[in-house]
Amino acid sequence: MEQLLQQIEKYKQEITAFVAAGAEEVEQFRIKWLGTKGLVKSIMGEMKNVPNDQKKSFGQLLNEFKSVAEAKLEALQQSHSPVTGTKAPAVDYALPGDPVSVGSRHPLTLVRNEMVTIFKRLGFAVAEGPEIEDDWHNFGAMNLPEDHPARDMQDTFYIRKPEDGNGPTWLLRTHTSSTQARVMEEQKPPIRVICPGRVYRNETISARAHCFFHQVEGLYIDENVSFADLKQTLYFFVQEMFGKDVKVRFRPSYFPFTEPSAEMDISCQICGGSGCNICKHTGWVEILGSGMVHPKVLENFGIDSNKYTGFAFGMGVERITQLKYQVNDLRLYSQNDIRFLKQFTGVV
Ligand code: PHE
Repeated sequence: MEQLLQQIEKYKQEITAFVAAGAEEVEQFRIKWLGTKGLVKSIMGEMKNVPNDQKKSFGQLLNEFKSVAEAKLEALQQSHSPVTGTKAPAVDYALPGDPVSVGSRHPLTLVRNEMVTIFKRLGFAVAEGPEIEDDWHNFGAMNLPEDHPARDMQDTFYIRKPEDGNGPTWLLRTHTSSTQARVMEEQKPPIRVICPGRVYRNETISARAHCFFHQVEGLYIDENVSFADLKQTLYFFVQEMFGKDVKVRFRPSYFPFTEPSAEMDISCQICGGSGCNICKHTGWVEILGSGMVHPKVLENFGIDSNKYTGFAFGMGVERITQLKYQVNDLRLYSQNDIRFLKQFTGVV
């Protein structure tokens, strides 16, 4: 009996000290100790020779011995991959990782940034102003007095009219010309700024109209600024934006804050000028309004209109984006549909 106990102790030490060089040795370990003809089994067989009064404590000892062997085998199997047969970590670092989904800039942000970059290269600074604006900066200063019929051109979201008739009427700005007004209020010529930002108009939402959209407007005031400067600046812009082949044409137009005024069309970037739905089969699309700053506007800000002249222009970022990326429904820009937005991943 004593001998048997010693034997078990020796086996335990042997098991604990065992080191395997590879999966094959682990297998040999298993066969030697825990196989059907293994040593654990044969020691278990000794049970029948143990006197009855010792059977209980001896049984416990045997069970413990068996657990030691089993735990060792498990540990060995974990650290030796049976696949390669060599020492390999339990984690397979060669497996491909989980894909990380990369976000993208919104197409309007991409195009706005591109527009800003082009004008910056021409020396324009960027100015920003509030989206909640007062009547004066949005309309009055821009030569649209309260009873001016041109106010009907822009359906406005009014926020609050003062009940007693005093103080400003608040509204959501209908164009970023309001920011130009704020720049003229604060700066002396020469002034050369672009005003990117969101604007609001009370329109029914459809594929072609939305109650908010984005503009980039520009203002240049200095001595001897001419209509030729305006044309050349805008021509440079569209060539940078759409390539050297783009054609432009100016059409006379009317804005209360510019005189003379003109709208600029470019050759349709979707069909190349042969006619499609976007250009309504004319080959041309209108992209901006522009003109020479009305002397009254300059004087509203104490700028001497005999000494200074200026040009201004304004365009929609959505329209430029539509022509650049062929987006045919304005609503796509604000629906946050990941399938739409994903198409711009990697575009910088
Ligand atoms: N403010 C005009 C608009 O919102 C655009 C414009 C700006 C036209 C400057 C002429 C000069 O449509």
